[in-house]
Amino acid sequence: ALAVGRELAEASGLPGLSTARWERARIGSALSLKSADLVTVSYVLNELTPDDRRSLVDAAADTAAGAVVIVEPGTPDGYARIIEARDRLVAAGLHIAAPCPHSAACPIEPGTDWCHFSARVSRSSLHRQVKGGSLAYEDEKFSYLAATRFAPDPAPARVVRRPQIRKGQVLLELCTAQEQLRRETVSKRHGVLYRAARDAEWGDPWPPHSAEPDPAS
Ligand SMILES: C[S@@+](CC[C@H](N)C(=O)[O-])C[C@H]1O[C@@H](n2cnc3c(N)ncnc32)[C@H](O)[C@@H]1O
Repeated sequence: ALAVGRELAEASGLPGLSTARWERARIGSALSLKSADLVTVSYVLNELTPDDRRSLVDAAADTAAGAVVIVEPGTPDGYARIIEARDRLVAAGLHIAAPCPHSAACPIEPGTDWCHFSARVSRSSLHRQVKGGSLAYEDEKFSYLAATRFAPDPAPARVVRRPQIRKGQVLLELCTAQEQLRRETVSKRHGVLYRAARDAEWGDPWPPHSAEPDPAS
C-alpha cells in the first residue's frame, strides 16, 4: 500500500512530495495520527473490530483539518459501517459533503436498501486469472462518505441509482436536500434539463450546474 501510495503521489506531480513521510502503524485504541488536511480510510473498516472501527473514525475526525473520506464495499454491511461512521463524524462536528446533500439522518429505512455507487475499474491479467473473469474491467460497487470541517455547499440532490432512459424521458432516483428519496421524471419538454438528465450518471449531483433552466420551458 505504501509503495502504491508513493507511485500515485509521484504521478500526481503534487508539490512537496520530496518531504512526504510514509509510515506504517497498527490501527487500534493506541493509534495516534498527526494533523492532516485529508484523511482517507478505504476498505479498512471492514477489517477491524467494532472498537477499533470507532477508534479509527474518532481519530480521523480529530486529525482532519479539512476532510475525511471513507470508502467501503457497496454491500448492506459496508453501508451500515458507513452510516455508523457518519453518525460519529457528524457528532464530532464535521459536515457531510457527499454523497448526502445534508448532514441530517439518512432517509433510507434500515434493512430496506443501502446507499452505494459503482465505478468501472480495469482488471489486470492477474486479476482476471485470480477472479476467473474474462472482461477487461469490473464494476466495483462501493459506499462512501466525504465529511468536511468547513460547511460545504452540497448539491441540491444526488442520483442514487443508475438513471433509466425511456422514450422521451429519463427517470432519476434522487436523494434530496429535503432529507428525502424522490423519483424525478425529466422529459423532453424540460429542454436543457432533459439533455442533462440523459448524460447524468449514477452518483452525479443533480441538477448539474451546467443545466440552467430553459427559458422556453
Ligand atoms: C482491503 S485492504 C485496503 C487497502 C487500501 N486502503 C485500498 O483501499 O486499496 C485493507 C488493509 O487494511 C490493513 N489492516 C487491517 N487491519 C489493520 C490494523 N489493525 N492496523 C493497520 N492496518 C490494518 C490490511 O493490512 C490491508 O492492507
